Amino acid sequence: MSEKAQFKTKLGLIAATVGSAVGLGSVWRFPSEVQSNGGAAFLLVYIACVFILGIPVMLAEFSIGRAGGSDAVGSFRNLAPGKKWWLAGALAILTSYLILCYYMVVAGWTFEYMWQSITGHLYEPIATGASDLSAQFSTRMSEYITDDINPLIHTYIIIALNLVILLFGVQKGIERLSNILMPMLFVLLLAFCFVSLSLPKASEGVEFFLKPDFSAITPSVVIRALGQAFFSLSLGMGVLITYASYFPKDTRLIKTSFSVSTSVIFVAFMMGMIIFPAVTSFGLQDRALNGPTLVFATLPQVFEQLPYSQLWSALFFLFLTVAAITSTISIAEVSIAFMQDRCHMSRKAACFTVLLPLFVLSTICSLSQGSMSSVTICGMTIFDLFDYVTANIMLPIGSILLCVYLGWVAKKQLFKDQLTNNGSLTAHSYRIVLFIVRYIAPILIAGILISSFINNE
Ligand code: PFF
Repeated sequence: MSEKAQFKTKLGLIAATVGSAVGLGSVWRFPSEVQSNGGAAFLLVYIACVFILGIPVMLAEFSIGRAGGSDAVGSFRNLAPGKKWWLAGALAILTSYLILCYYMVVAGWTFEYMWQSITGHLYEPIATGASDLSAQFSTRMSEYITDDINPLIHTYIIIALNLVILLFGVQKGIERLSNILMPMLFVLLLAFCFVSLSLPKASEGVEFFLKPDFSAITPSVVIRALGQAFFSLSLGMGVLITYASYFPKDTRLIKTSFSVSTSVIFVAFMMGMIIFPAVTSFGLQDRALNGPTLVFATLPQVFEQLPYSQLWSALFFLFLTVAAITSTISIAEVSIAFMQDRCHMSRKAACFTVLLPLFVLSTICSLSQGSMSSVTICGMTIFDLFDYVTANIMLPIGSILLCVYLGWVAKKQLFKDQLTNNGSLTAHSYRIVLFIVRYIAPILIAGILISSFINNE
């Protein structure tokens, strides 16, 4: 048995699952996806994807994990011995690993911004009285990521931090830390939202974010919204299977899935309400900011509106770094649990086997924003390609397999027992959830995948 996180309290269980879900996906990835995919139309499709597809798929993952009682591959092996279904778990593990490669890089950017906020370097040009703040922050961000060395150092720091945390099993520490910091992050988001909404021309940004132009809903917008929904809920990557294997028998899965989803939507929504008013107010829409840098170039300007901007900025990026780390350790834990349980490695060997190759793979992702940015595959940099292929192709395929297994192959009683805690709860929504997992989710996800391929031809 591996020494994986054990959830002693209900709050700890929810905090860890929310900690895995709430991360850079909602804070960094969401605004950039909204910006490049039609604004409010994207938001609408995203929320629909979370409720119609995300929650049922999450329940399917929880059920497989709690009933299977092991890592992503082991759970399928236990539930379907002698069958090839464990391959669905293997795909999930591979996807999660590829996500780690670029997630570490962005977590490194967050760390760098926290550090620069503390030292005051981020705000230095402002102190010298330079005129165009938007230009300064955008230039600073592009200078930073196009530099080869600096981002690499911070990426390595994040990987090393992950290694230490995972190696010494101080999940309890990080869990306790995130129990305190996460609610504070929520409060900070609310405060920044008020600041952003009070900026001149904020209403244009709010309109972009909240007033949908239905003609903007194209197959590609739908597949990106679906990818974002799955990414932000940590679906299809085996994380929820692994975590659910530690859920006690009396955990209410439906309630837990709602708590996780609403926290994720809340953070994403708040970020939109902070970023887009700031974008229109500071005229950043004309600056052709590329997606991944949007949040980093925009937020410092919001902080700059406040007294003690350095303090707010340092706090925000500190919380974001912690949110990123609670997500990276959950992703890495999937592969580590697999190595321990399936390959019978010690915890130490498993941690090194999983994390050391990341020093190389994340280097490639990081450099692809800098000196290797001219290397493109299908018109995308390696960084963008990793992001696109994992979130928009591998996650949906993994989720289809999961739904087909639970909806069609496994005994119906398995899902029912999990949702009703072996009959001790009345789960009126069971039938609806089963219907979605059997029919709606696989067909819709497959349809979206196929139409996006045809569309791209
Ligand atoms: N859901 C996390 C986020 O939105 O940042 C990212 C993530 C965590 C993805 C865990 C995948 C995962 F398995």
